[in-house]
Amino acid sequence: MKKLIFVLACTALLSSCKKNTSSSYTPDCSGAAKSFATDVFPLVNGNCTGCHTKYANYTGISGDASLIRSRIVDGSMPKGGSFSSTQKNAIVCWIDNGAPNN
Ligand code: HEC
Repeated sequence: MKKLIFVLACTALLSSCKKNTSSSYTPDCSGAAKSFATDVFPLVNGNCTGCHTKYANYTGISGDASLIRSRIVDGSMPKGGSFSSTQKNAIVCWIDNGAPNN
């Protein structure tokens, strides 16, 4: 009996984990912040530059814009952390806006 409960608990835990990781994100740029200096740079500098030193400035970030966009959308970056939809929107919508140095 104990074993059965254990198996059930594990199954429940696993499926709830799966739900979290596969939860899909759809960019919503209607009210999203789109300033590089105010919105994007602090997020990237605080969450990415520790591993990606080339993301320490505008040139490095904008040069990798499309790669960054797909890693933010699929949730694979920031590695070891996660962004809220609002934080994802700030980066994704800034990129979709042409990644200006604004
Ligand atoms: C803990 C370290 C770590 C952090 C923090 C991190 N990354 Fe990464 N990142 C990696 C590693 C390791 C890889 C290579 C393995 C892989 O592709 O998953 C990678 C790969 C990438 C790639 C693919 C690069 C390529 O040439 O294909 C992009 C883009 C990227 N990260 C963007 C980001 C962004 C944007 C953030 C912040 C939101 C971030 N990363 C935070 C470690 C990190």
